[in-house]
Amino acid sequence: MSSLNVCVSDFEEKARKVLPKAVYDYYCSGADEQKTLTDNVVAFKRWRLIPRVLRDVSTVDLSTWFLGERLSMPVCVAATAMQRMAHHQGETATARACQAVGTGMMLSSWATSTIEEVMSATTAAGGPGGVLWLQLYIYKDRALTLSLVRRAEQAGYKAIFVTVDTPYLGRRRDDMRNRFQLPAHLSMANFSTASLAFSEDSYGDDSGLAVYVAKAIDPSLSWDDITWLKANTHLPVILKGILNGEDAVLAVNCGADGIVVSNHGARQLDGVPATLDVLEEVVQAVDGRCDVYLDGGVRQGTDVLKALALGAKAVFIGRPVLWGLACEGEQGVVEVLELLKKELQLAMALSGCRSIAEVTRSLVRRFEFTSRI
Ligand code: GLV
Repeated sequence: MSSLNVCVSDFEEKARKVLPKAVYDYYCSGADEQKTLTDNVVAFKRWRLIPRVLRDVSTVDLSTWFLGERLSMPVCVAATAMQRMAHHQGETATARACQAVGTGMMLSSWATSTIEEVMSATTAAGGPGGVLWLQLYIYKDRALTLSLVRRAEQAGYKAIFVTVDTPYLGRRRDDMRNRFQLPAHLSMANFSTASLAFSEDSYGDDSGLAVYVAKAIDPSLSWDDITWLKANTHLPVILKGILNGEDAVLAVNCGADGIVVSNHGARQLDGVPATLDVLEEVVQAVDGRCDVYLDGGVRQGTDVLKALALGAKAVFIGRPVLWGLACEGEQGVVEVLELLKKELQLAMALSGCRSIAEVTRSLVRRFEFTSRI
């Protein structure tokens, strides 16, 4: 009998055993010395929960509004690239799992399934389809960029999450050592032209993905491009990759409909703060003018609760979903999401919170890091 998965790290341990090394390394790597990678997780330990008692928590409601959609919980799936490396059904399995659990999924521009295929996976049984959002890289080729936006609009995606922290790819040492590239049978499915498909090629000593980004993604990206994107889609535009109050204010001034406090899973600039540590600064700078979300380091229900208490409207999880996908495809992703849901529900009940609205700033206090836990 295989052992039970009682926490996200149980899934990770199993995933590490089943995935080819280069794939596991790609998914789990951070940039350079991986200081921020560790800190994203450790930051949650610096904050402690201050529970309230005697509040009748016999029912706890985790549901929340997210850009006009009702979700079963404030935990959504972050964009992670090339999911068919984890499981042959890749992004389509993740989308179905999100739909089953009642949450939303951000699809990576660098998916190994097309925008349309992923939506179809959620409409196959009839019904309105899942809550899907497109993560967008702005390509040097603006017509190509807009074609992705149009395809998302037509397929029924609900928002565009534009990544703003990747003018170049961060240095992920294992990917360089592994000369990481997509397995030959897979491709970045949303691009038909060979030069933008990122598959087998000769990349010298670098990670294939870093070479791809240098070739295709526009490093001249500026705030004007956000204004341009806003003017070219009716979908909400959320900026993913903001880490300070100044940029948050500029984002609001550009008309951003939301902000994801994100350091790209610590995969871009090593040495930046953990996302949890800058969340409150961003929330205060935005001052209610748009929603603020967080990704990075969320591994358990209490982490979600701490982020919500510090002002996040919802959190996104990336790697935990990949571990579930690698272990057991769609079912594995369902299990990871249900696990976080259960953990969050219990954490809320034990803190005296009956609904997301009752999760307030007074629930958390920052303590100096005096012990290893
Ligand atoms: C994809 O977004 C990556 O960071 O590898």
